[in-house]
Parts: sequence; C-alpha cells; structure tokens
Amino acid sequence: MGTLDAKTVLVTGGSSGIGKACVSRYRAEGATVFVADLHPRSSDELALDVGDPAAWAALIESLPPLDVVHLNAGIITPGRTIGAIPALPLTDVTDDAYRSTMSANVDGVFFGARAVLPSMTERGRGDIIVTASIAGLVGLGGDIAYTTTKHAVVGLVKSLGSSLAQQGVDVCVSALCPGFVDTPLIAGAVHDLVAAMGIPIIEPDRVAEAAMQILEVRANGSQWIVWDDTIRQHLEPELL
Ligand SMILES: NC(=O)c1ccc[n+]([C@@H]2O[C@H](COP(=O)([O-])OP(=O)(O)OC[C@H]3O[C@@H](n4cnc5c(N)ncnc54)[C@H](O)[C@@H]3O)[C@@H](O)[C@H]2O)c1
Repeated sequence: MGTLDAKTVLVTGGSSGIGKACVSRYRAEGATVFVADLHPRSSDELALDVGDPAAWAALIESLPPLDVVHLNAGIITPGRTIGAIPALPLTDVTDDAYRSTMSANVDGVFFGARAVLPSMTERGRGDIIVTASIAGLVGLGGDIAYTTTKHAVVGLVKSLGSSLAQQGVDVCVSALCPGFVDTPLIAGAVHDLVAAMGIPIIEPDRVAEAAMQILEVRANGSQWIVWDDTIRQHLEPELL
C-alpha cells in the first residue's frame, strides 16, 4: 500500500532534476503520474509551456481529474554567469531574459494554479505544491530576477492558501523551498562554486521526501525549507 494509491498527480518540469525525482517518488507511492515539460524526454511525457495559459486549458481538458498538482518547472535567468557576486547585475538582465524568467517561474505557477483549482474545488479536495526556492525566502544576490520570481510565488502560495482556508475549501497549497539541489539547473560552475563555499548540495530525492511530508501535513499556505539534512516548515509571525 502506497500513500498515493489511486491518486492522480501532475508534475510540471517533471522530465529532469527535482521534478523527475518527485515523479519517481509519487509513482513509488502508488500514484498515476502525468509529466508535463517544455522538453519532454520520452513519448509518455506531455509537452507544455507553463507560461502559456491556453496550453494549460488544453492540457487540463485532456487529463482526468487531478488529486495533486506539483508546479515545479522553472529556470534560472538566461545570461546568468558565475563569477563575482552579484553574478548577474540587475542592469545586465535583458528584457527577454527577465520576461522568460517571469514566464516560466511566475506565470507558470499562476496560470497552473488557476487552471487546476476549479476541478479541485468542485471535487472538494486537492493539493498543490509549488517548487519555489530558498531564494523565495532570502535575498540571494547571485540572480536577482530569479530571486524576484521565487519571492513572487511564495507570496502567491501564502495568499492563495489563506484565501482557500477562509473559503473553507479543502484544497491545500504549499511551497517547497530547497537550498541548492544537485540538478542540471546548477550543473557546472554554479555547482562547483557552491560546493567550494561549503554550502550543502542536496540530492533531488531529499526534495521528493519533503514533498511527501507536505502532502502528509497539509498546512495551507505553508513554506518548507529543505537544507542539508533539515526539512522544516518556515514559520513567521502572523500579522493579519
Ligand atoms: N536545483 C536547485 O538548486 C534548485 C533550488 C531551489 C529551487 N529549484 C527550483 O526547482 C525547480 C526545478 O528545477 P531543477 O533544479 O530540477 O532544474 P532542471 O533544469 O533539472 O529541471 C527543470 C525542468 O523544467 C522544465 N521547464 C523549464 N521551463 C519550462 C516551461 N516554460 N514549461 C515547462 N517546463 C519547463 C525544463 O525543461 C526541465 O525539465 C525550478 O522551479 C527551480 O527554480 C531548484
């Protein structure tokens, strides 16, 4: 018996890295998992640009009702090169680089959540996990546009979680906030620099473990830090 027996799950950006590890874990827990990616790596994976709202509508129309949607696809800012901090000064971020980062990392989460919510609300239950980043909680100077996008989606998770809880809807939205994870996203020079700085580099399976904890705890609007051996909920004072 798996924790996700008979559940249907969609993972965006599920062809690589963190998404791929989560797909494997969800399948091992008994789920039927659909993978949607800009660059599908096999014939059973679906093509999707998460930043395209029309593509979201078509995808959701083609799938059975979903119990869990993991909005994971994301990129670092194109043109980011490693070197002195900040690695990519704000003034060197081109219009195109800014817009493509916003499209994948923010539009992809906003449009994705908006596309899947009606069916979850109608069925009375659902879970949405957003892969944000530790860069959604602290100001990483190395990639300002990326950090902007990750703060934006943490804000979306907090706000949507609060709105769903107020409505009494049993749809839970949470943010995964890992530190540096050993995936193609940070391959090469970034990986080597991070390692040389003594910053822990996390295995993707560990992030999948955190995703399972999120699905078990179901704390609406929560953010989960994954750092070295630690998986913990990020708690901040409630002002409103
Ligand atoms: N690797 C890290 O250190 C790290 C740390 C914290 C958060 N994250 C976040 O984790 C998520 C996954 O990153 P990863 O490290 O596994 O990277 P990755 O490059 O291995 O995987 C990202 C996947 O997303 C897909 N993708 C990119 N743009 C897309 C789009 N517009 N539409 C659909 N799919 C798209 C890519 O094709 C790729 O398969 C990202 O949101 C990233 O910001 C990564």
